[in-house]
Amino acid sequence: MNIPYVTIAATGAKMPAIGVGTFGSDHVSSFDMAQSVKLALKLGYRNIDCARVYGNEKEIGEVLKASAIPREELWITSKLWNDMHGKKNVGLSVRATLKDLQLDYLDLFLVHWPFPNYHPPKCDVTSRNPNARPYIHEEYMETWHAMEELVGQGLVRHIGTSNMTKAKLGLLLDSCTIRPVANEMELHPCFQQPELLGYVKKEGIIPIGFSPLGSPNRPERDTTETDVVDMEHPVVVAIAKAHNCHPASICLKWAHAVGIVPIPQSTKERNLRSNLQSILSDPLTEEEVTMLKKADCNNRLIKGQVFLWEEAKDWTELWDEDGIIRAPEHYRN
Ligand SMILES: NC(=O)c1ccc[n+]([C@@H]2O[C@H](COP(=O)([O-])OP(=O)(O)OC[C@H]3O[C@@H](n4cnc5c(N)ncnc54)[C@H](OP(=O)(O)O)[C@@H]3O)[C@@H](O)[C@H]2O)c1
Repeated sequence: MNIPYVTIAATGAKMPAIGVGTFGSDHVSSFDMAQSVKLALKLGYRNIDCARVYGNEKEIGEVLKASAIPREELWITSKLWNDMHGKKNVGLSVRATLKDLQLDYLDLFLVHWPFPNYHPPKCDVTSRNPNARPYIHEEYMETWHAMEELVGQGLVRHIGTSNMTKAKLGLLLDSCTIRPVANEMELHPCFQQPELLGYVKKEGIIPIGFSPLGSPNRPERDTTETDVVDMEHPVVVAIAKAHNCHPASICLKWAHAVGIVPIPQSTKERNLRSNLQSILSDPLTEEEVTMLKKADCNNRLIKGQVFLWEEAKDWTELWDEDGIIRAPEHYRN
């Protein structure tokens, strides 16, 4: 199967243009998620989006070990969880991930969130870590430089970011030695983030789109009454009718058309198959991509309430919506 690739300018490496997610949204067991990865590999997926905090790298590692697919044909991403920021922890964390995944190297290692604010798995929306802090650039750079060292050590081929804003990315690009090759960010028709997406692309950074279907089974802590359902949006549904396909496919065709690498998650063979197929055939027309701009209603789903620090007003402070990073002086060491 010929899955399209995006090429990383700095190294010439090729990232498959669609991946499969492995976050079980607090209800898919590690075993079932590993079975989904097994199925995904059988169907032709070669890009797997893992993370330490998803708690299933060991089970996925067993699947990777048992697979006959040559390592160089796979693209494996994992992420540094928030409780492992800092110079000493980054190497420990990647080694634990490599051990569990039974790999010698990762293709991509991301800083999962730009602050060290830990939340326990399966927590609810009111959960607050008393040590939570805002983004402190000097602290992030300490973590980033440790990420850079992993590249030199051959433990990871590329490094990248996740859940960054334009303001934070700008600071990172000004201070880094090794640039992020990708930024994993929430992207779906009802949350297109045009400004950040445009910036990321202009900087030659690959946008990896998480929750590309609008994460219909996301944890309750990430669900708000006013959230819009992408797969029920009238524009998405109308275009799905025209293509005689499920609205999920339109979300993925949209991502592919605008240069995003989507990483949809599914436990069902039928959905895994059709998600992959969505980007391989019957693309959207330019007119349809334009029509889909109307679906964008800035509906962020993964708002990050559980990462708020004591003085933060609400979750919008995590996202620097006015371009300003709020980090009160007393949080600096
Ligand atoms: N970097 C980050 O901070 C971050 C945050 C969130 C997510 N992620 C990554 O992004 C991945 C995807 O995001 P997500 O899991 O939140 O949401 P998503 O991929 O938008 O949605 C997944 C849900 O959609 C359903 N689904 C999949 N294909 C479908 C289809 N063709 N038709 C109808 N329903 C379908 C799945 O249920 P079935 O099992 O029933 O198919 C699953 O519950 C995650 O797994 C994770 O790897 C990263």
